[in-house]
Amino acid sequence: KKLLLAYSGGLDTSCILAWLLEQGWEVLAFMANIGQEEDFEAAKAKALKIGASKDLRKEFIDELVFPAVQCNAVYEGVYLLGTSLARPVIARSQIAIAKREGCIAVSHGCTGKGNDQVRFELGYYALNPDIEPDYLYFYNRFAGRKDLLEYASQKGIPVAQTAAKPWSTDENIAHCSYEAGILEDPNTSPPKDMFKLTVNPEDAPEKPESFTLFFEKGIPVALQTEKTYTDSLELFLALNSIARKHGVGRIDIVESRFIGIKSRGVYETPALTCLRAAHMDLEVCAITALGLTKLMEGLTLDRNVRALRDQFVTFNFGQILYNGMYFSPEREFLSDAIVSSQKSVNGQVRCQVYKGNFSVLGRSSKTERLYNANESSMDELGGFEPCDTTGFIKIESIRIKNWANNQRNQNK
Ligand code: ARG
Ligand code: SIN
Repeated sequence: KKLLLAYSGGLDTSCILAWLLEQGWEVLAFMANIGQEEDFEAAKAKALKIGASKDLRKEFIDELVFPAVQCNAVYEGVYLLGTSLARPVIARSQIAIAKREGCIAVSHGCTGKGNDQVRFELGYYALNPDIEPDYLYFYNRFAGRKDLLEYASQKGIPVAQTAAKPWSTDENIAHCSYEAGILEDPNTSPPKDMFKLTVNPEDAPEKPESFTLFFEKGIPVALQTEKTYTDSLELFLALNSIARKHGVGRIDIVESRFIGIKSRGVYETPALTCLRAAHMDLEVCAITALGLTKLMEGLTLDRNVRALRDQFVTFNFGQILYNGMYFSPEREFLSDAIVSSQKSVNGQVRCQVYKGNFSVLGRSSKTERLYNANESSMDELGGFEPCDTTGFIKIESIRIKNWANNQRNQNK
């Protein structure tokens, strides 16, 4: 009985590894490198046998992170979905390796109360509908962290890190999450030394730092600082280090988990925070300097496309990713819509980071000319007469007048 476990070296995955061995499984541990600053050697030493370790960082950036930027993906207005985006890539690689290694089952170490077990398991089923489901009784055995810590000490699993850091983290190249433990009280402020991916904004440099981001069809294609980065992974890593140094991308929220529980989470998402904000800026207001006068020249995204996208695509894409339905017909449908909406989102955004803040200094687009300075100028009429607008207003007023008359009659 061979099983492939998604293993990180943390408390949960170390306990489930021991427990699966106890249950008589032959366990292969699988470590996905999605850019977490993990001590791979230490984790390896902790696991009995490492089946595979795979670098998924580029795949993660190209297939999940950049498409998320392209649609401004967000959950409950602020969470940039850092953990949710990584799960599909891990699940997919895990299923492929399980097949190669002849494993009849796969597993993970997530609790039964969170979102991650939903994401992993729906992913497993979507990728291999025949996958063995027997192994999921772990949750029934361990009700929570207290149980896990007890079991760990029984089994001699080192928990020094857990004791020193009384919260649970999940890390990848895009973000780091902190939940549970002392953070469970939403009124407890996170300790200063908890954060791994960003400096405290007050300790950030006194001087702002600027850089330019280039987009094609809504996808980041280059980062220009002293050097220019065009490889997606290098671009992302370079932007991470700029944003990290300036303390950009921290949030502290109470969110609604898929299963209906509210939970408190603190997240840091340096590069992705900058990319999303720059992308949104380019969509709505590309400005080009023309000669001596600065003229508004190009909105890269059509008004109605933008409204439909915002109403139907961005919200639902965030929801679908958060709820673990990446491998689903509805996600594929929305991905097509995102690509189609972004054909015109080409241009560059000059950005600045300073003391925890990201801001836009200017933007331009060489190709997009949706904005026509003459058309919106107050100084001249373009293409229509004043009586045309009067007619336009008259038609629009039919419904408004009916409503107003009705109100007046009711108040009599
Ligand atoms: N609450 C966030 C989410 O649902 C972060 C989850 C972190 N996962 C973890 N196993 N620590 O996406
Ligand atoms: C956890 O911290 O283990 C639960 C997080 C989640 O899956 O949402």
